[in-house]
Amino acid sequence: MSRISLTRHLIEEQREGRVTPDLRLLLEVVARACKSISVAVGKGALGGVLGEAGGEAGSVNVQGEAQKKLDVISNEILLEANAWGGHLAACASEEMTHSLPIPDAFPRGNYLLVFDPLDGSSNIDINASVGTIFSVLRCPDGVSAPQDHDFLQAGSTQVAAGYCLYGPSTMLVLTIGHGTHAFTLDREQGSFVLTTANMRIPAQTREFAINMSNQRHWEAPTQAYVADLLAGSDGPRGKDFNMRWVAAMVGDVHRILTRGGIFIYPWDRKDPARPGKLRLMYEANPMAMLVEQAGGAATTGRARILDVQPTSLHQRVPVFLGSKDEVETATRYHLRHDSAAA
Ligand code: F6P
Ligand code: MN
Repeated sequence: MSRISLTRHLIEEQREGRVTPDLRLLLEVVARACKSISVAVGKGALGGVLGEAGGEAGSVNVQGEAQKKLDVISNEILLEANAWGGHLAACASEEMTHSLPIPDAFPRGNYLLVFDPLDGSSNIDINASVGTIFSVLRCPDGVSAPQDHDFLQAGSTQVAAGYCLYGPSTMLVLTIGHGTHAFTLDREQGSFVLTTANMRIPAQTREFAINMSNQRHWEAPTQAYVADLLAGSDGPRGKDFNMRWVAAMVGDVHRILTRGGIFIYPWDRKDPARPGKLRLMYEANPMAMLVEQAGGAATTGRARILDVQPTSLHQRVPVFLGSKDEVETATRYHLRHDSAAA
């Protein structure tokens, strides 16, 4: 059987006019960086990469989260790989307060790259799945030195989105707006091989993913929706639901792309300064594009995630994504609550 590598897939997409040579190069470079991150993650304790960054004092990112050594290493790998290719104008990352224009020493291209270099990093030290999430936007016309505000484009304008999952195998899942495709890293050959073209999420599901420990902090319609899931066949839903929680969004979304389900990180009052947890630009938007391209849905509980107009680089957003019918049901609970309250 002839294998289709990521390189061949992208060249064929270029011939179809679906990807520009520059975007193809950019995606190849991101994939190469992900291979390096996969190697670093795979070394575990032998590579001296476990634990917190910043030694005794520890270091904290702009989100107020403790940085792991691998968060910092992954961020550097992505920045270094993307600096000199000439395809990018600027990068932004969960691990950096502000975006970073491509250094003057190199030519600047027409795209912006925004990423979460290592999602789910609390899983690192327990040898469980983590991943890299990325989103590609166009650099606005006429902008030669992009700044943070140039990244503030709705998710519907993304030209590509994807993630790389570092699990028992390393997988790259990618969309350029023509379906969602999964590639598995052949570690001997060092190349990503197409293993599932056109992933499809079943519209219905019996599986949900939410951090139940935050239940008391949720708003009323989220409480009501999850209570009905838990009531199972004894409640209004008339069927039993199972629960899964990988604790890395990448892992939960990969499960949903593989066999369906709903993933929820709702708005909550746990920390009033930070309602909800996931970030729009480099977590919710790329995952929403991948999920929609696989026939699923992604909302804030009220509106389509890809239609949210960002107001800041690190803004948070509630996330309900996965099997279309289930996401629509969850969204109805919130909209019904709003109209009853109006
Ligand atoms: O990046 C944030 C993140 O690590 C996600 O990958 C994951 O879904 C979530 O946080 C886990 O959060 P919690 O601490 O609620 O389990
Ligand atoms: Mn993350």
